[in-house]
Amino acid sequence: MSICYINGSFEDKSQAMISIQDRGFNFADGVYEVMSFYNTKIINHIRHFKRLEKSLEGLRINNPFTNIKSLEIIIKKLIKLNKLNKGFLYLQITRGSSNRNHLFPKVTEPNIVIFTFTLKKNIKLISSGVNVVLTNDIRWGRCDIKSISLLPNVLEKQNAFEKNFYESWQKRNNLITEGSTSNAFIVNADNEIQTHPLNNFILGGVTRDTVIEIAKINNFTVKEKAFTLKELDCCNEAFLTSTTIRILPVVKVNNKKVNGGKPGYVTNQLIKKYDDFINRELNESN
Ligand code: PDD
Repeated sequence: MSICYINGSFEDKSQAMISIQDRGFNFADGVYEVMSFYNTKIINHIRHFKRLEKSLEGLRINNPFTNIKSLEIIIKKLIKLNKLNKGFLYLQITRGSSNRNHLFPKVTEPNIVIFTFTLKKNIKLISSGVNVVLTNDIRWGRCDIKSISLLPNVLEKQNAFEKNFYESWQKRNNLITEGSTSNAFIVNADNEIQTHPLNNFILGGVTRDTVIEIAKINNFTVKEKAFTLKELDCCNEAFLTSTTIRILPVVKVNNKKVNGGKPGYVTNQLIKKYDDFINRELNESN
């Protein structure tokens, strides 16, 4: 049995119910987070909770977890109830349920859902690398909000899959913003790690920020400036990052190989350092 948290109680996931008038259901009027955990330790929890706060603020939804500790307690209990020693958490907060009207309801409580899920780790992808296809970024101008409105992302991911690509990298005015479900990096011709800066055109990935921090600590040069198609074409290496896949080397863009079709040195170093970071996090108390 899989247990979820829903509006204050812990229930069997298959029995849990949300109103058909939930504004997330009607308008995609809500935000979400995906976090990873080991035992009951939530990796990078402060960064995830801060981003959640910012996303709620962005949509002007009242934050039901003004005391972050209370959210942590709920999550830890949920992990224990599901008897999982590692996996992922999906947390969604919508503006609440009310009669359908675009205007915000005067009185409503946010609907909160949290559930755990597991994913098979595909170790092969770390050594083989993955391919990405370039597409146009058709999303709105607030990609920094982790909103549950994900249609362009869903369509891009599906398109990539159907063309036998792992991920799509989206371009806006000749610049790569990010993937449909991950952040995009290159190691440019000057051997600098380059990625789109934090602004409204990308989601500020928790993994992205951590990788940048780790790279700097390890004396790599990091350039937070969007890379052009030309820079991508001339890059030494490429990789992508997200909570669910950590760091994956990109070895092909459209039909052109990157680094001769092999994961590069810098990428492999970062993968190793990121694993070390997770292990350090696990050794510290939460
Ligand atoms: N997606 N950019 C987009 C558009 C994303 O959807 C994600 C993550 C990221 C990486 O963010 P982070 O490192 O914080 O996971 C970047 C999650 C995993 C998802 O929607 O399932």
